[in-house]
Amino acid sequence: MKEAIVLTLLAASGVHSRNNGVGKLPVMGYDTYNAFACDYDGALATAQAKAMSETGLVALGYNTLILDDCYTLRERNSSGFLQEDRTRFPGGMRNWTQSIHRYGVSASAYSSNGHKTCGGYPAAYGHEDQDLEVWRSWGWDRMVKYDNCYIPYDNITMENEFGRFKRMADAIDRLAEKYDEEPFVYSVCQWGWENPYNWAPRISQGWRIDPDVKPYWSSIASIIYLQSISYQATNFYQHGDMDMLEVGNNGQGMPTGNLTLAEQRTHFTAWALSKSHLLIGTDLRNATNETLAILTNKELIDINQDPHEGAALAPFRVGSQDNFNHATYNESYPAPYWAGNSSYGAVFMIINTMNETQEMGFNLTENWAVRAGRKYNVRDMWKHQHVGVAIRNWTVSLGPHDVAALLLTDAGPEPAQELADGSLAPPCALPLLALQCASSNGSYVYSG
Ligand code: GLA
Repeated sequence: MKEAIVLTLLAASGVHSRNNGVGKLPVMGYDTYNAFACDYDGALATAQAKAMSETGLVALGYNTLILDDCYTLRERNSSGFLQEDRTRFPGGMRNWTQSIHRYGVSASAYSSNGHKTCGGYPAAYGHEDQDLEVWRSWGWDRMVKYDNCYIPYDNITMENEFGRFKRMADAIDRLAEKYDEEPFVYSVCQWGWENPYNWAPRISQGWRIDPDVKPYWSSIASIIYLQSISYQATNFYQHGDMDMLEVGNNGQGMPTGNLTLAEQRTHFTAWALSKSHLLIGTDLRNATNETLAILTNKELIDINQDPHEGAALAPFRVGSQDNFNHATYNESYPAPYWAGNSSYGAVFMIINTMNETQEMGFNLTENWAVRAGRKYNVRDMWKHQHVGVAIRNWTVSLGPHDVAALLLTDAGPEPAQELADGSLAPPCALPLLALQCASSNGSYVYSG
């Protein structure tokens, strides 16, 4: 009874009652856009699901597929319904959905919060309930990615960004309540305009932080930079979405990409450890062993899908490598030193944003998840092996735009006063805490 009154009050006050507080891990799957833009049909999409199954990606959790734009006819019918494109999906949409279900892959929806999708197809603004019913009738049941093109005038919406995107959140709730089903995951694609990390977490499980990703290092670097100023909004329930993956897009993709393997590793590491959705965006029929080795890095996927820890890694030094004590925000040289926690241990991500090889050292106790006075086993999550024991410091050597993904687990008290390089450790963690470091009789260790 009490619960009913609370729910009624929530509904009356316009507070979104169902999506809020529903825990959702980042979504893993496939999205057609980075590989094909609008140039695909049902058979090509099904071929991706088949490849996902045959290469073990489905078993690792990549288990939904979004037809990203351009999948219907250009006009609604006279009753306002989306019309199936029987040329590109000859058996109809329900059959197509069944064709991917055979590979253990569900279907997810794409639409836009405007008159048209970005590709110029009918979009769901004003048709939210109707389109959700259609997608459901096609067997689509996982996620709605909701774009931001062809926005109606203010005198039609009479809403700000929050209210405009809340329309679909409410419609998703109505559908779930009507059929007593799990609500679609709602993923807002508003490109980071108007700081969606301030408002999208109230209505969605994901929000794009960036304009469209491209398969070039400059784009990957700028998105990592954007993540460094919005990572705090990510938690177990909702995630900043860094956009679909470009892993595999060297010599292919739309546009044709030129990402080196090091850049692809960095891209995947940053997305996975930031708890972004992991949506593959390359033609998997041509996937090389190197591409698959990146996409199937289970150690990173496990952290992305951590059932107990929802926070994204946080940068512990901002600015570029050669000036890391100052907040010199720069989209070309995003934060190189990141850390956080996971169910499996403390996690460090070190990125060489520079164009030449670097030795990159850091102090473990700069990260809250590592305890001072303890030493740590270090596991390299790209080499997939134990690489040593860290006492206070660790240094990695990284090629241009490459990454280290390290998992640290407690290995007991550190040996008295001894650092890995043989020098003496200070009795308090460096750097700033040393200023107040004192013995039990109150005398400071450092003076001046
Ligand atoms: C926008 C989105 C992309 C993709 C395209 C489809 O650009 O940001 O992710 O969905 O539209 O046209």
